[in-house]
Amino acid sequence: SRTLSLAVIPGDGIGPEVIAEAEKVLDRALSGSDISVTKERFSLGAARYLETGDVLTDDDLDAISSKDAILLGAVGGKPGDPRLKDANIERGLLLKLRFSLDHYVNLRPTRVYPGVPSPLSDAGDVDFVVVREGTEGPYVGNGGSIREGTDHEIANEVSVNTAYGVDRVVRFAFEKAQSRRRRLTLVHKTNVLVFSGSLWKRTVDAVGTEFPDVEVDYLHVDAATIFMVTDPARFDVIVTDNLFGDILTDLAGAISGGIGLAASGNLNPAGTFPSMFEPVHGSAPDIAGQQIADPTAAILSVALMLDHFSLTTQAAAVSKAVEADIAERTGAPRTTTEIGDAIVARLTGEALASEPRQEEN
Ligand code: NAD
Ligand code: IPM
Ligand code: MN
Repeated sequence: SRTLSLAVIPGDGIGPEVIAEAEKVLDRALSGSDISVTKERFSLGAARYLETGDVLTDDDLDAISSKDAILLGAVGGKPGDPRLKDANIERGLLLKLRFSLDHYVNLRPTRVYPGVPSPLSDAGDVDFVVVREGTEGPYVGNGGSIREGTDHEIANEVSVNTAYGVDRVVRFAFEKAQSRRRRLTLVHKTNVLVFSGSLWKRTVDAVGTEFPDVEVDYLHVDAATIFMVTDPARFDVIVTDNLFGDILTDLAGAISGGIGLAASGNLNPAGTFPSMFEPVHGSAPDIAGQQIADPTAAILSVALMLDHFSLTTQAAAVSKAVEADIAERTGAPRTTTEIGDAIVARLTGEALASEPRQEEN
């Protein structure tokens, strides 16, 4: 028997609504197994900040760091809310977790599921995964503003790319490609961002010699957005920097039939720190509290978590249950809870006992 300790951060807006469903699915997926989950809930996000002034205390960070994994809904308030101007929840909480826990791989799979109305009339067989670097790039916050607020202001953002950081994420991406369709696309903007672009390109070339059976391709990020719309089936594994990966994965969510389907794992592959699983979407203040958010992304993030713990049977059962649910999404719109319940109902003893498919995310 095995115990998994989990930090649950429901967060703001639709976060608690979708996490409630994700937890139900997790509990059901592990019921009848010899794995027990202990959960500790952390009230973090814009709501906590407005109440207490805390963004992420050292005590909370320590407690979260001691867990086996983190399940997070979404954090952040309504974009532009003046009360949150000084808090910077995104940097002080979400990015702080990703950076402190060394989540250098941000894994974001995309599939166009049969039956889902994609905005693309003929998407083809879309099944790719974006390996987004998670701890470097323009996200490091290594910039500043000179003469702020004057006509002579100069605002700089610095993108940090280290040989160590690029090598480890590129290596992960090659390994991922090798376990899939053996096709890796580096996405960057080497024609303009020449220094970091050169490091990424040289790293992919060098690591690629160790993976001779993986076919390597390169696209500038602007062109990558074209192909993601016109021919997304061409992609298998995309490796890219933190910011390009952020943008491409919202686009990927949209073409797959909605951001409510897009799951992600912030991975620390070595297991030194707990990995964190969360939907790609945010707190969606525009639809919060109405039970209309799609919990699928949060539920598929649970599947990624199960995979991370090598619980492949359970992970595959959750993915299959989601797939079956999605295939029948034609009737009247359902509430967040109804979707969660329908997916839980598909996780029968039989579904949980079957062999996993020979497939990976
Ligand atoms: P958002 O992803 O919250 O919303 C964008 C649009 O997608 C909205 O119209 C929303 O209603 C819709 N949407 C999002 N999730 C949905 C779901 N599950 N089902 C149905 N529709 C869904 O992005 P935003 O509006 O730019 O950001 C809102 C807040 O969330 C901001 O504070 C932002 O910083 C934060 N944010 C947090 C995370 C995170 O915690 N991981 C991620 C992205 C944004
Ligand atoms: C995401 C979000 C975050 C990011 C923000 C909220 C910091 O957009 O998880 O995609 O940019 O990584
Ligand atoms: Mn994003």
